[in-house]
Amino acid sequence: MNFPKDFKWGTATASYQIEGAAHEDGRGESIWDRFSRTPGKVLNGHTGDVACNHYHLYKEDVAIMKELGVDSYRFSIAWPRIYPNGTGQINRKGLDFYKRLVEELLESGIEPAATLYHWDLPQALEDKGGWLKRDTARYFQDYAAAMFKELGDTVKQWITLNEPWCSAFLGYGNGVHAPGKSDFNSHLHAAHHLLLAHGLALQAYRELNLKSEVGITLNLAPQYPASDSAQDQAAARKADGFQNRWYLDPLFRGFYPQDMPEFLAAVAPVIQPGDFDLISGAVDFLGINYYSRSVVRSDGQGGYEALPPQGPVTHMGWEVYPQGLYDLLVRVHEDYGPIPLYITENGAAYPDQVEQGRVHDPERTAYLQQHFAQAAKLIEAGVPLKGFYVWSLLDNFEWAFGYERRFGIVYVDFETQERIIKDSGRWYQSFLKGLARG
Ligand code: FCB
Repeated sequence: MNFPKDFKWGTATASYQIEGAAHEDGRGESIWDRFSRTPGKVLNGHTGDVACNHYHLYKEDVAIMKELGVDSYRFSIAWPRIYPNGTGQINRKGLDFYKRLVEELLESGIEPAATLYHWDLPQALEDKGGWLKRDTARYFQDYAAAMFKELGDTVKQWITLNEPWCSAFLGYGNGVHAPGKSDFNSHLHAAHHLLLAHGLALQAYRELNLKSEVGITLNLAPQYPASDSAQDQAAARKADGFQNRWYLDPLFRGFYPQDMPEFLAAVAPVIQPGDFDLISGAVDFLGINYYSRSVVRSDGQGGYEALPPQGPVTHMGWEVYPQGLYDLLVRVHEDYGPIPLYITENGAAYPDQVEQGRVHDPERTAYLQQHFAQAAKLIEAGVPLKGFYVWSLLDNFEWAFGYERRFGIVYVDFETQERIIKDSGRWYQSFLKGLARG
């Protein structure tokens, strides 16, 4: 496989999934603290209270990354550590954690890439209506501006939001994620306010004239029609509208997809003049999280339904379909580019076990290998793909699945907090060693 010398290889995590220390140094409550304590919401009643205890073990974790040989580390900042109530005065102790982390990364020769919002909204803001309220986008702008000023160019890549589709739909549309609300139409209000929050943060970033890069990360999944019939093709187009275009179009074209009248009617009341100018402000890159694809067919009533997975699946039940990564990025490049692209997450969960101090996970290694090969193919095809972040560095709190789904290339024993580099991590390490790096 051939990759450019300056291609960025990394690993990714998120604050609530790994940090723990939920009540330390003045951290405020997040919607995930509240949600995970609500009976029946998270498998086995797991919470992120301790998680990987990364808040205390970050030096060990950075040392592991150094050993693996990654160029960059994508982490997220917990808004409620910085503003325990979402707004007001900065909690210096919370901020200091990220300053220490960034320093440790830079000293280890690893570039920090920070996501500002990976789903842990301060509960105090949710109590005022959360992402259903426009004010939340303003508070996010203040928080983002403060982080840009405090950490500035020491962070090489800034990502405003992680996967607004998940925050909006899973959080407010079907209630599977925090804050657990379920109303289809109002989830589109949440989505609009999230996009606006991104636009406002971008505006704040540009005012500071920083030299690092800023972008946003979307979870995109190609939607293939089950057959060539006009009905199935229309079904796939609809699914694509819901999953992908509802976010890509406003960001890169400045308006919502016009072929989705019900969505347009639902979102209309919260759109204000000037919103799309902010939302479609120029980003330096687009981050894409890719895990799987969908095959959809018409339900015979103007809607669509997804077929069961067509091939091997991971522990999440997600089909392993590397070709989808290629198809997706070619399409994004053709329809929305040219724009530098990063794969900000890709990886797989498998039920790993420790055997005599080792974790043999050939399926995860194969998954990564196959997706790296697609990335090489994309570069060959002229798609401006600039980097690849493996999800995840560590086994961690996998949202509604608690600790039951292991995505790490490093195993975590949640009783002892011992870390073991899995075979897939060793494979990644030797892959990186074999590359010509610049
Ligand atoms: C993505 C999330 C990430 C992780 C992976 C498996 O949707 O961004 O936090 O949970 O899925």
